[in-house]
Amino acid sequence: MSDKAKLNFDNNEYEFQVIVGSEKEKAIDVSSLRSEANLITIDPGFKNTGSCRSSITFLDGEKGILRYRGYSIEDLAENASFLEVAFLLIYGQLPNESELNKFLDDINENSIVDEDLKKILESFPKSAHPMGILSSLTSALIAFNPEKKISLNNSYNSDHDLMYNSIVKLLAKIPILVAWVHRRRKGLPLEYGDYNLGYVDNITKMMFQLPNQDYVKNNVIVNAMNKLLILHADHEQNCSTSTVRIVGSSEASLFASVSAGISALWGRLHGGANQAVLEMLEAIKNDGGDTKKFMVKAKDKNDPFRLMGFGHRVYKNFDPRARIIKKAAHDVLKDLGIDDPILKIAKSLEKEALNDPYFTSRKLYPNVDFYSGIIYKALKIPKEMFTVMFALGRVPGWIAHWREMRMNNDPIGRPRQVYTGENRRSFVPINKR
Ligand code: ACO
Repeated sequence: MSDKAKLNFDNNEYEFQVIVGSEKEKAIDVSSLRSEANLITIDPGFKNTGSCRSSITFLDGEKGILRYRGYSIEDLAENASFLEVAFLLIYGQLPNESELNKFLDDINENSIVDEDLKKILESFPKSAHPMGILSSLTSALIAFNPEKKISLNNSYNSDHDLMYNSIVKLLAKIPILVAWVHRRRKGLPLEYGDYNLGYVDNITKMMFQLPNQDYVKNNVIVNAMNKLLILHADHEQNCSTSTVRIVGSSEASLFASVSAGISALWGRLHGGANQAVLEMLEAIKNDGGDTKKFMVKAKDKNDPFRLMGFGHRVYKNFDPRARIIKKAAHDVLKDLGIDDPILKIAKSLEKEALNDPYFTSRKLYPNVDFYSGIIYKALKIPKEMFTVMFALGRVPGWIAHWREMRMNNDPIGRPRQVYTGENRRSFVPINKR
């Protein structure tokens, strides 16, 4: 196999290096295209553009494979704890017991937020969407946790302590913000957790404990939460992760970069789909449950309705996370003794779509968001909080990519464009227009 790709343009031939990844995927390095041929590439939505080299997550959309640092998502979702996965994603190896204990201790030591953040949270209108609040509060954390000044002969990227401190701080404070956003919506007091509990157990306590009641661990809830967080923890160069990398590439801080990632995740074509799926399933139920009617709408190009939770930019066979979540939704509802008609509607929609040429020819399959909302609903998490839960899970992935980008000294992200506007023209005074 040649390691060069050739381009013939305007009677000239140009050669470009072909880079091969560790799973044998190939990419043409076009970085010299402009200097050599005065050309750029154009690829709206970056549908076929690699923005970086990364050793964090491998994904094969055709075969439905997802691996974090070489470990299959199925294996991790079944056997690992979310904090182990966070460590794995960020540092590249599974932690041993003492590494994991130290990681948790360092997170716990930072598990406090400035009291003024409560005032900021309380100043938002009750109707404000939790994703907007979470993004703002994450950004506000910067004011209370300013980055240390970097000396001239040192750089942030090479100061591992500085980076480590930012990482454990963020992993410590985001769950508190998430829990508080949820509690405020419910009118519950804003309290801290019990750091003798594990990371995920403590998150469930912080979110759900009612005043004057002891917290009793519910294994079904904690295990479901652990699995959901792991399944959402990373997904290589998706919209929000690319946002985090591009914001961080300007040397913006970790908190600023993650705050931008939260905003990018919010949209309904990305993480916001989990809320949109449940709203869609409820709308179908309230309309009498005729899934066929909504299938027709989804296929009608003149109708803006899309089958939310279906389709994916890279998965063209199946989304391995959706398979795990579908089974988990079934198990969680059974274990909690819930008979939710919405699960039946979801299964029937899925069955119809998988037998419909519109969906099969376009390779549209259920994605991670199709069944996750059903589990969140069973855990009594309100719809508006679904994407916040996704963000909570995605934090380690964002951190891992931000760290990788900084450690690799990746250049500032700055795409080019093909200008299609007016050619040069002269200013016309207002009285002559
Ligand atoms: N319902 C109906 N038709 C769809 C759907 C859908 N959910 N998704 C894609 N299509 C159709 C498109 O209309 C298009 O049809 P055409 O070729 O006749 O024009 C074709 O399938 C390809 O779709 P694109 O939008 O071009 O694919 P793209 O890769 O740009 O978008 C996306 C992927 C955004 C996920 C899309 O499938 C979608 O909108 N899905 C619903 C929202 C959703 O579930 N998002 C969550 C994704 S997972 C995540 O981000 C965590």
